[in-house]
Amino acid sequence: MFYELAASTWGPEEIEAIRRTIDSGRFSMGEQVASFEQEFARYFGMSYGVMVNSGSSANLIAVAALSYKKDRPLRRGDEVIVPAISWSTTYHPLQQYGLKLRFVDVELETLNMDVRKLERALTPRTRMIVAVSILGNPAALDVIQQFARQHDLYLLEDNCESMDAEIPGGRKTGTFGHVNTFSFFFSHHISTMEGGIVLTDDLEFDHLLRSIRAHGWTRDLPAGSPLFEVQSSDHFEAYRFILPGYNVRPLEISGAVGRVQLKKLPAMTARRRRNLALFQDLFAGDDRFILQRENGKSSCFSFTVILSPGRNINRERVFADLKQADICFRMITGGCFLKHDVIRYFDYDVVDGSVPNAELAHDRGFFVGNYPEDLTPQLHRLREVLDRACAL
Ligand SMILES: Cc1ncc(COP(=O)(O)O)c(C=O)c1O
Repeated sequence: MFYELAASTWGPEEIEAIRRTIDSGRFSMGEQVASFEQEFARYFGMSYGVMVNSGSSANLIAVAALSYKKDRPLRRGDEVIVPAISWSTTYHPLQQYGLKLRFVDVELETLNMDVRKLERALTPRTRMIVAVSILGNPAALDVIQQFARQHDLYLLEDNCESMDAEIPGGRKTGTFGHVNTFSFFFSHHISTMEGGIVLTDDLEFDHLLRSIRAHGWTRDLPAGSPLFEVQSSDHFEAYRFILPGYNVRPLEISGAVGRVQLKKLPAMTARRRRNLALFQDLFAGDDRFILQRENGKSSCFSFTVILSPGRNINRERVFADLKQADICFRMITGGCFLKHDVIRYFDYDVVDGSVPNAELAHDRGFFVGNYPEDLTPQLHRLREVLDRACAL
């Protein structure tokens, strides 16, 4: 394949970290994971990190933790404001915890939630906003956070696609929510192949997340935790279950690899951004294509293209030509979630009755890969192929 969607960012250092971990004889979650959690949280200026086996699990335990908070837990029937474009497992935990979704359309240019609609999305039952920054491009997180504060709503930031991005002014995405989730899947900004984390500044959330991550037990919580009182018998304390939890723990190897990858993150983001600058240069001013407009500094997961409507561009021809040129492409994130069959299991409604921008991105949008290598030849070739396929 000439131009892949993603490429491995592992080198000899990651393999060495795996070898060291194997030699240590510790395979299940231990010191490497604990150190990675601290280092990752520190990088983002947050107090606590709880690592899990995927970004999807991070979203799951985040919603679970919000549902078991002592004060003002989320309850079945509560409403959550969500953008119409995200990944399936942004939404699935919300359904699983009985919440009602209010879908808000995205802006066509940023692909993030159109915050001008927030006021209309709000009802007396609204309890939470889920903010998502699509494919490295920061959502208007400052506006969303302000709105959440003003209306006493929880904010869950699903930052699984936008690690190391910054809103205008420099604050990093993944630091605005009460709980903030990240993914370390293969194609993401750092990779443990499978993996994820939740960041929070709140001690109670941290403890809820730790318990829910591992069986709902108390074993990973310190004495003095706000969640439980230690009792006298060690025998019973060793197997004490306080919450309906899961087992979504990461492997110790994933923690060790995460530590190595985190050190490489700034350089990898810088490389992704140099590719972005070239992409923007090559396609600037061409109104056949709607490109993602940066809000702040994108960490550029990938390059999105929406074929402008009304320009007589044949999507099938574009897709055929990209295939022919060995250029991989795919749907933007998960497309418009309302178009998926699974929506029949959800309790939801749609703010303003429709989401035309999300539908357009679904029907006429795609992305090609970005990864921390010099993609100059690939991007020039992309430009040539799209130019030919979209000749008017
Ligand atoms: C916005 C968003 N949330 C959640 C996830 C799930 O992450 P994972 O694949 O690690 O489960 C993804 C996956 O890419 C995502 O894009």
